[in-house]
Amino acid sequence: MATNTEISASKEFIQNDKNGIPLLVAEDIIKIYQTGKIETQALRGVSFKVHAKEKLFLIGASGSGKTTLVNIVAGITKPTSGKVFWKDLSKDITRSSLEEIIKARRTFAGVVFQDSRLLPHLTVKENIELAGFYAKVPPKIVKRRSEFLLRFLEIWDKRNKKENTLSGGEKKRAAIATTLITNPRILIGDEPTGDLDVVTAESILDLFDRINEELGIALCIVTHSQQVATRADRILEISDGIIIGRHGKEVVLRNLDQSRLLEIDRQDRLAIPKEILQSIDNPTHFTASSKDGKIILSPIFDPNIYNNNVQEIITCSVCGKLVKNNARFCDNCGSTITNKRERNE
Ligand SMILES: Nc1ncnc2c1ncn2[C@@H]1O[C@H](COP(=O)(O)OP(=O)(O)O)[C@@H](O)[C@H]1O
Ligand SMILES: [Mg+2]
Repeated sequence: MATNTEISASKEFIQNDKNGIPLLVAEDIIKIYQTGKIETQALRGVSFKVHAKEKLFLIGASGSGKTTLVNIVAGITKPTSGKVFWKDLSKDITRSSLEEIIKARRTFAGVVFQDSRLLPHLTVKENIELAGFYAKVPPKIVKRRSEFLLRFLEIWDKRNKKENTLSGGEKKRAAIATTLITNPRILIGDEPTGDLDVVTAESILDLFDRINEELGIALCIVTHSQQVATRADRILEISDGIIIGRHGKEVVLRNLDQSRLLEIDRQDRLAIPKEILQSIDNPTHFTASSKDGKIILSPIFDPNIYNNNVQEIITCSVCGKLVKNNARFCDNCGSTITNKRERNE
């Protein structure tokens, strides 16, 4: 059972928001995969919210944890720890039964995967109707909605065709129709244009925009595609299983340093982007100081310098680098070491 502290923390996370109660909240999500004796920590405490009608995209390199995150917020897999709230269910779905999740998902979320997942022996129309049937949408509504969706998604002419006669874009449109038949409030996508050529992808992205703007459905999409990322209202960056910051619409995936706004997360962590660490030879230890409103991190390439003999280390008063007590000059900036008061003795 959740403690009072846990409940109040969640309430604050859900409600204390100028945009009202969010549609979907992921809170401190951790996911560890265990394969034999090997543990992979795919998500290391991820938190974010999606508001009604907004387009939130999460970008990240391959292996950063995107698919894992989509499956968790869509209620397909359970996290190792953390919470997921769907506004409609008003509770943490990670503690709900599978039956309860499936029932709530029918009207709450549609999930679009990279592949189309249509049943090959059925026509497009039959695939859409079957999805409506499984979701227990009344037959009359299924008929009306499927006709609307076939036209809205511009596949009316293809309604009696089977998957093997459709183009990649048509398959995708049909797959989207099967998720929209329940009239969900949010569409969750895992690299939804990953299997399409650039031109087809563009037409599907236009469609996502129309689904958002004309049908009022929120989008939560994970991607590592430049083409997709620029369509977002809000972009969060995931790296090695944590959200390290956000980007504006001008994001360039090949040069994320340019647009990244680093963010301290709910665990008070501030991750240093990999590219920045690589550019200074991947140090693992730093000294930290502040000057003129800026934080200065100075890499220490030999952390053993601290072992047992801290007294033998002093700080250079000019550049802040650590140097040996008996040094006469700083080997970083060349200044003369004079200030005895700075010695850590
Ligand atoms: N079922 C699984 N079992 C073990 N490890 C997994 C499994 N699924 C994903 N992983 C690992 O978790 C990490 C994140 O994977 P994933 O969520 O697929 O990332 P992305 O979608 O960003 O490529 C990777 O290191 C991946 O190898
Ligand atoms: Mg993936």
